[in-house]
Amino acid sequence: MTTTYGPTTGTAASTTDTRGPLHGKVALVTGGSRGIGAATALRLAREGADVAVTHVNGKEAAEEVVRAVEALGRRAVALRADSADADEAAGAVERTAEALGGLDVLVNNAGIGVLGPLDGLTLGDVDRVLAVNVRGVFLASQAAASRMTEGGRIITIGSCMAQRVPGPGGTLYATSKSALTGLTKALARELGPRGITANIVHPGPVDTDMNPADGPYAAGQAAMTALGRFGTADEVASTVAYLAVADYVTGAEFAVDGGHAA
Ligand SMILES: NC(=O)c1ccc[n+]([C@@H]2O[C@H](COP(=O)([O-])OP(=O)(O)OC[C@H]3O[C@@H](n4cnc5c(N)ncnc54)[C@H](OP(=O)(O)O)[C@@H]3O)[C@@H](O)[C@H]2O)c1
Repeated sequence: MTTTYGPTTGTAASTTDTRGPLHGKVALVTGGSRGIGAATALRLAREGADVAVTHVNGKEAAEEVVRAVEALGRRAVALRADSADADEAAGAVERTAEALGGLDVLVNNAGIGVLGPLDGLTLGDVDRVLAVNVRGVFLASQAAASRMTEGGRIITIGSCMAQRVPGPGGTLYATSKSALTGLTKALARELGPRGITANIVHPGPVDTDMNPADGPYAAGQAAMTALGRFGTADEVASTVAYLAVADYVTGAEFAVDGGHAA
């Protein structure tokens, strides 16, 4: 008989239940219409979860993700919720719980990258990046923490630039992503007694609309990794899926970066 590892026991369990280790769980993936978020939504659904995805402009793309999740036999919902808006960032948690019956896994994925020389960054750039990448994550995590029960999982997508900034132009983006490491560790300490974990995944260069593998700076980014290539959204999603079931991992940083930080 083959065995697998159960989501709550951490011990070998029978595979007679083929519905997946996240069967019966509800996940919210912010920014789930494209890229890493869409891949994560699908991966969690393959592991058995029902999934809500947020978007801001990509309604059709989000609805496509919903159809793909439903094709796997799971429930799904697309929510327009701008992470830059405080009410919408927190409200997505409640809307997910209302639509799908609770919340077990929050994936803070929505993010924007504004790169460029320090003296070219405007106050508007600073406010927008911090609102989406930091404040929205804080508020969604706060709302999720008040909703979740034992076994809850908060998984945040940071960046390799929170660990190592390989050149100029990253002040604002690196500031925002580094803040998420502090948030994650503090959440782990605060929510640990309730059996809720918080972890952060730091992708390296990943081929998405935000950072296409054939973009003008791609070759330089690939060269900075030990593996010499971009990653795929699925490669990040598989680590998120692991963290969604891992019991004894919290406050941890996971580099999925091809060795960018090595
Ligand atoms: N790609 C990389 O190389 C890389 C590396 C390190 C870290 N990351 C991080 O990984 C995460 C995902 O990046 P990605 O490369 O998959 O990006 P992407 O291809 O640009 O996709 C971004 C996703 O976030 C959504 N989004 C953007 N602004 C939003 C807002 N204000 N409110 C709600 N949703 C919003 C987008 O929705 P719409 O479709 O509605 O626009 C889309 O679903 C980000 O946090 C990013 O910083 C990416």
